[in-house]
Amino acid sequence: MKSIAVIGAQWGDEGKGKIVHLLSEKADVICRYQGGNNAGHTVVAGGKKYVFHLIPSGMLKEKKICIIGNGVVLNPYALKEEIEMLRGSGIEPRSRLFISNRVHLIMPYHIELDKAYEEALGIGTTKRGIGPAYSFKYARIGIRPCDLEEKSYLDSAITRALDEVNTILVKRFGRKPVKKSEIMSTVEEYRDIIGPYVEDTSKMLNRFIDEDKRIIYEGAQGVLLDVDFGSYPYVTSSSPISGGILTGLGIGPKSIGQTVGIVKAYSTRVGGGPFPTELKDKTGDLIRDRGDEYGASTGRPRRCGWFDVVSVRHVLMVSGIEKLAMTKFDVLDNIGTVKVCTGYRIDGKQTGNFPPNVDVLGRAEPVYEELEGWDKTSGIRDYEELPSSAKAYIRALEKILDTEIGILSTGPDEKDTIIKTKLAID
Ligand code: IMP
Repeated sequence: MKSIAVIGAQWGDEGKGKIVHLLSEKADVICRYQGGNNAGHTVVAGGKKYVFHLIPSGMLKEKKICIIGNGVVLNPYALKEEIEMLRGSGIEPRSRLFISNRVHLIMPYHIELDKAYEEALGIGTTKRGIGPAYSFKYARIGIRPCDLEEKSYLDSAITRALDEVNTILVKRFGRKPVKKSEIMSTVEEYRDIIGPYVEDTSKMLNRFIDEDKRIIYEGAQGVLLDVDFGSYPYVTSSSPISGGILTGLGIGPKSIGQTVGIVKAYSTRVGGGPFPTELKDKTGDLIRDRGDEYGASTGRPRRCGWFDVVSVRHVLMVSGIEKLAMTKFDVLDNIGTVKVCTGYRIDGKQTGNFPPNVDVLGRAEPVYEELEGWDKTSGIRDYEELPSSAKAYIRALEKILDTEIGILSTGPDEKDTIIKTKLAID
């Protein structure tokens, strides 16, 4: 199968945008399968910086087909902004972008609810309505593009949704109720924005698979934010894990040729929740500044720390990751001794397991191995030219993770990348 999954193997923001953009040169089709505009994929191409939230970054390459699958939650206003950004750069998505007719639409009341719940729960969400849109999907009161033309279905679906919304907003949070007339006009606008792009994308993609097209399945966020396997409840509400590809696109299990996990050379996390290797010191500040570790969606400063083998090993297992791409390697240039967390000490006992309960994870103290640092890798494009201590860091991680680091990024430009492995889309 000429297809690869590109998955975030930490807490999101691993640099998937750059890797997908680079690999999309080799692909015909690029698909998003989960998440929404909580994601922010930054790509530097032709000296220009692009930030994508919904549209796969493959859109920057000519002739590539981009699919937003049913597993995504879609805010049409955010989509419109992105389409306009692309048009402003002379890129017309009209004939190359397809949105599933089964995608769940983020309604203004989902955003209201996200803000209200965030005040109560303090998860540190992006307040973009992602969690409530997924909750409504599973509560069977969501709205999808295929529902928009069915007037009587739509009317009663919105009535059902608003019964729920207004009960929560008024009774639970003491806020103002949402008016049905406002939602009906929003829906009209939504229809105009997304109308030209809506398709049965599952059918389309299955046809592409039959035709042996080269496909990239592009994850958003990271597996440590997965609703099942992440640091619950400090997670997003979707399934960045590779299993999410099947349900999020409507394809069979044999459709994924190879699974590539993206990791940074260190770790970051944005929002609340435990982070065992977090550095609340000058080294953490240095990594944040050098790595420009500020959220692409919300601008929030990211928490920074050392590479965590325990959590990444868990991610490799639950997602069936076969190869790794390591990004932002150059950020650790000249930082002195580098540390890698190879175990956790929890309640006095050492373990290599990633605990499912967040309070237990919060008590995890990292057990570090120290490795020699290196001077400069920034901009190096040939593996053999890397300093020997940088190669030793890579080899040590490959050994302990039992997984090849086949792609290495040494700078923001797509040319600053070393690919030393064969991929299923080559
Ligand atoms: P939500 O996805 O907005 O519901 O936020 C839930 C958690 O996921 C919060 O901690 C967010 O900061 C985090 N999150 C959501 N999207 C991203 C992302 O693209 N990168 C990193 N963290 C994210």
